[in-house]
Amino acid sequence: MKYKKLNNNEKMPFMSFGVYEIEPENTKEAVLNALDSGYTSFDCAQVYYNEKEVGQAINESEIPREEIFLTSKNWVSNSGYDKTLKAVNKTLEDLQTDYLDLMLIHQPFGDYYGSYRALQDLQKEGTLLSIGVSNFNSARLIDLTMNSDIVPQVNQVETSPYFQQYEANEVMNELGVSHQAWGPLSEGMDNLFENPILLEIAQKYDKNAVQVILRWLVDRDILFSSRSVKIKRMKENIDIFDFSLSKDDIKKIKELDAGESPFMDYDDPETVIDFNSEIV
Ligand SMILES: NC(=O)c1ccc[n+]([C@@H]2O[C@H](COP(=O)([O-])OP(=O)(O)OC[C@H]3O[C@@H](n4cnc5c(N)ncnc54)[C@H](OP(=O)(O)O)[C@@H]3O)[C@@H](O)[C@H]2O)c1
Repeated sequence: MKYKKLNNNEKMPFMSFGVYEIEPENTKEAVLNALDSGYTSFDCAQVYYNEKEVGQAINESEIPREEIFLTSKNWVSNSGYDKTLKAVNKTLEDLQTDYLDLMLIHQPFGDYYGSYRALQDLQKEGTLLSIGVSNFNSARLIDLTMNSDIVPQVNQVETSPYFQQYEANEVMNELGVSHQAWGPLSEGMDNLFENPILLEIAQKYDKNAVQVILRWLVDRDILFSSRSVKIKRMKENIDIFDFSLSKDDIKKIKELDAGESPFMDYDDPETVIDFNSEIV
């Protein structure tokens, strides 16, 4: 595993195992299989409704807590200072831990300034080693940074070959915020894994298209969270630390960039209404 030093000198593994959309009844097994396959970092969220099962798996594995990197995210309905303190406590309880390696504000909606102040206080007292945000566009990230004591350590945003986020990445680098990708595989939509550009690069390194996508993030210095519930894929997906892409490969992959999310537009008023009304 390769690690990245965050702006507070904490080390974070490049690759995290995401537990989004894994049913609670399948989560413990998935996390135990991921631990067996070499994953040490888990990307959780209150709104995935499976933090208890992640906690059970980690507890059962008997792997020392300090060898595991745990991330969670505070949901919109828990936004605001007091509600965030309460929600983080519940997350700690569910994950059976007394600290988190990273806590993010899940969405830039609701009273996220209040939430961020709570995260800052929890970081100062040592309950959260690192703090950050998710789905913050450059404008919101700059504003939060300019109105807070602590520059977020991480901003987790959708990043994939279809939505490469070069401009946002530049702003994050300027601010000293580490870019983390979510949804790097875009659920394989539009035959992403059979794309001729990715397949040609994959053949050169004796890898598959998914491995090329995940390595492409590492070579752009981008942390990422990805997921598979299948053991064979879990093992393949983590087997990306023995090769690296050339500048030319990265240039070729740029051709796939559509410049927008295939899933949602965070600046669309409907999106803001949906998140605030708990429709999403
Ligand atoms: N911050 C946010 O708002 C946000 C939003 C979405 C996601 N996330 C985080 O990011 C993580 C990853 O995003 P994601 O879960 O949307 O998707 P992803 O990792 O981009 O893709 C997961 C999908 O790809 C399939 N897959 C994985 N490896 C494969 C392989 N080698 N070959 C073929 N198919 C493969 C998986 O199916 P199988 O399981 O069947 O293999 C699954 O359907 C999430 O779990 C979550 O932690 C965060």
